Amino acid sequence: MFERSAKHQSTVPNHVAIIMDGNGRWAAKRMLPRVFGHREGVKVFKRIVRQCADLQVRILTVYAFSTENQGRPPDEVSFLMDLMEKTFRTEIDELCREGVRVCLLGDRQGFSKRVKELWESAEEQTRGGNRLTLNVAFNYGGRREIVDAARRLARRVHNGELDADCLSEELFANNLYTSNLADPDLVIRTGGEFRMSNFLLWQAAYAEWYFTDVLWPDFSDEHLLEAFAEYERRERRFGRISEDRG
Ligand code: FPP
Repeated sequence: MFERSAKHQSTVPNHVAIIMDGNGRWAAKRMLPRVFGHREGVKVFKRIVRQCADLQVRILTVYAFSTENQGRPPDEVSFLMDLMEKTFRTEIDELCREGVRVCLLGDRQGFSKRVKELWESAEEQTRGGNRLTLNVAFNYGGRREIVDAARRLARRVHNGELDADCLSEELFANNLYTSNLADPDLVIRTGGEFRMSNFLLWQAAYAEWYFTDVLWPDFSDEHLLEAFAEYERRERRFGRISEDRG
């Protein structure tokens, strides 16, 4: 089991990303409406944010709502939108006190003026947070993010501000929603599915993936430590060969 100690200091993933899946099934198992699972999921989310900050993870990105989730029944979509709004309205002062900087990753066009203003003020209020950066991917789609970056860069080429031959991976990455943030080291997916679901398609190119059957509302501090322990056992080669193989 992974335990926080000086020995493990360097092996805590710098950037952890989580696909918080399984809320609906958690509720269905209890014969409850799906939204009960989302409500329970928020409790787990709040706990895991604090645990990550305590373990000195520097960046946490959570997938709270995908562009494709817009296709769910309207009641569930508006419930999730309200839940996000309520969660950040009530939590933002404490997150700020705890040194958590929050950022929204996603397409804000579909948000009400009130939610847009909430995020602008939350980002502004927590800008100085230097313990943990919390990215909330809401109305987020990895492909849309890549197309947005391409469009922005194409415009600059068209306006003569950028030479197309100077377009590098670094410049492209800087035009994504995550701009200059380090890439995720570990992506955790709860809920037993083995797919990326359009999450951080560019940024997770060399992330270690950890899949667990545990449904998000059941995900405990111990489960996070197990994921970190597994991460610690992985050898990251980034396409190169192992050091001990010369
Ligand atoms: C996936 O479970 C979960 C979501 C689409 C919503 C995730 C939201 C939370 C965990 C709450 C945290 C919220 C905020 C605002 C940070 P699912 O509904 O796809 O579950 P299923 O696969 O069992 O149907």
